[in-house]
Amino acid sequence: MEKILFLAVIIIALTSFSFMPIVESQLPPTGKCKNGAYPPESSRKVPKYVINLDLPPEQRWTKLVTENKQGLYNLLAAIRNLTNVIFHGKLFILIDKYMPLIVNTLPYPFGEEIAGIANATGIPMGEVALFNLFYEIFTVCTSVIVEDTSGVLYHARNLDFGLFLGWDFMNHTWLVTEALRPIVVELDYQRQGKTLFRGVNFVGYVGILTAMKPNLFSLTMDERFNLNGGFIGIIEWLLGDHSTTWMGFLTRQVMENATSYTVAQKMLATTKLLAPAYFILGGNKSGEACVITRDRGSNTDADIWTMADSGNEWFILETNYDHWKKPPFFDDRRTPAIKCLNQMGQKNASVSGLFNLLSTQPNLNKLTTYTALMQVNINKMETYLQYCSDPCWPW
Ligand SMILES: *[C@@H]1O[C@H](CO)[C@@H](O)[C@H](O)[C@H]1NC(C)=O
Ligand SMILES: *[C@@H]1O[C@H](CO)[C@@H](O)[C@H](O)[C@H]1NC(C)=O
Ligand SMILES: *[C@@H]1O[C@H](CO)[C@@H](O)[C@H](O)[C@H]1NC(C)=O
Ligand SMILES: *[C@@H]1O[C@H](CO)[C@@H](O)[C@H](O)[C@H]1NC(C)=O
Ligand SMILES: *[C@@H]1O[C@H](CO)[C@@H](O)[C@H](O)[C@H]1NC(C)=O
Ligand SMILES: *[C@@H]1O[C@H](CO)[C@@H](O)[C@H](O)[C@H]1NC(C)=O
Repeated sequence: MEKILFLAVIIIALTSFSFMPIVESQLPPTGKCKNGAYPPESSRKVPKYVINLDLPPEQRWTKLVTENKQGLYNLLAAIRNLTNVIFHGKLFILIDKYMPLIVNTLPYPFGEEIAGIANATGIPMGEVALFNLFYEIFTVCTSVIVEDTSGVLYHARNLDFGLFLGWDFMNHTWLVTEALRPIVVELDYQRQGKTLFRGVNFVGYVGILTAMKPNLFSLTMDERFNLNGGFIGIIEWLLGDHSTTWMGFLTRQVMENATSYTVAQKMLATTKLLAPAYFILGGNKSGEACVITRDRGSNTDADIWTMADSGNEWFILETNYDHWKKPPFFDDRRTPAIKCLNQMGQKNASVSGLFNLLSTQPNLNKLTTYTALMQVNINKMETYLQYCSDPCWPW
């Protein structure tokens, strides 16, 4: 019971911040499809690190988190500041006390990795666990896969994060989003000195939101909002139902262990999940692209929507709404993106075309931390930090 109250407190604390941007912001511009945004300044590239999967889990992240300790402290300070408005510091006492209990229930190697990060940074284990849990529920995004006229696939995503997490009235920014940009990194996960897969991560997160297995497949995850959603899954987990899999852990398992597009698709479609999600999966061959829509707590619910099904033939796009429904008027990032894709046309399908698309509002907005661009057949991955200066959509 205590644990549930504790969780309810976190949820209320984190979601009760400012719907104010709606009132406060100037009206966002009507999006004109960007052109010539690629390549951006090289100062917007993110640092690269190797994660050696042959090391024991406790040691895998040590170098990365030690060198980026300050960024992590800043992120936690931003979150702490937000919760202090209501809880005067008491919330983090609870987090430090109870979250470590969750770590002990996580499957191998995730609990061990989180413990290693806590040990290397001196950040209490509960707080490391908290921001690992975060991405399970607060990630709004755009993911898109396009195929050029020669059948080559390009997969790109914007990662938008920090909705309701502290609007800064002076700067017109989201506090948590600002704290996240400095800790975006590109990771090369290796076994026996060879790349197994590559991903884009926030330092301290052990799951996967964006990744690519060279020559085989690429994967991004977009949040699926649902009343019967992630919060309930987390509560069930706390109550001892460990039959589900955390979204970010499933994606990591897929990257590590799936050996083909087909195997990856099957794992993503049939593993019982703790939270609902959209998985956007691309392969290495013409037509291999799909959006897998998942519910919580079932392994027979998956809706697999392929590029061919979508009726668009050369592209498939997902934001944060079911493809068979219209997006809500207050958050329609799908219609403007499709408009820009049609304007681009298949003959211009490319990394630079996708970067233009994802630099166009509202797919680019105040929550956008980075754009990742992937081309599986030549093992190409590029990540750029994104900023959106006023006037800009708050989300
Ligand atoms: C947190 O609040 C303190 C005091 O109000 C302030 O000095 C500090 O800059 C804030 N930190 C962040 C990351 O917002
Ligand atoms: C914690 O880190 C120290 C080195 O900083 C290391 O000696 C120790 O074994 C680590 N403990 C665990 C549990 O990983
Ligand atoms: C707000 O913007 C100013 C000027 O650009 C900058 O110095 C300051 O760090 C920003 N504050 C936050 C909390 O991002
Ligand atoms: C991948 O499979 C190996 C062997 O079955 C297992 O040891 C490893 O933990 C798996 N990876 C993940 C992330 O579950
Ligand atoms: C599309 O490609 C053609 C050349 O193939 C180029 O002239 C044109 O500017 C491109 N359009 C866009 C919107 O990128
Ligand atoms: C992926 O595509 C490239 C180029 O089209 C090709 O050379 C390579 O063999 C493909 N890889 C696999 C595993 O099919």
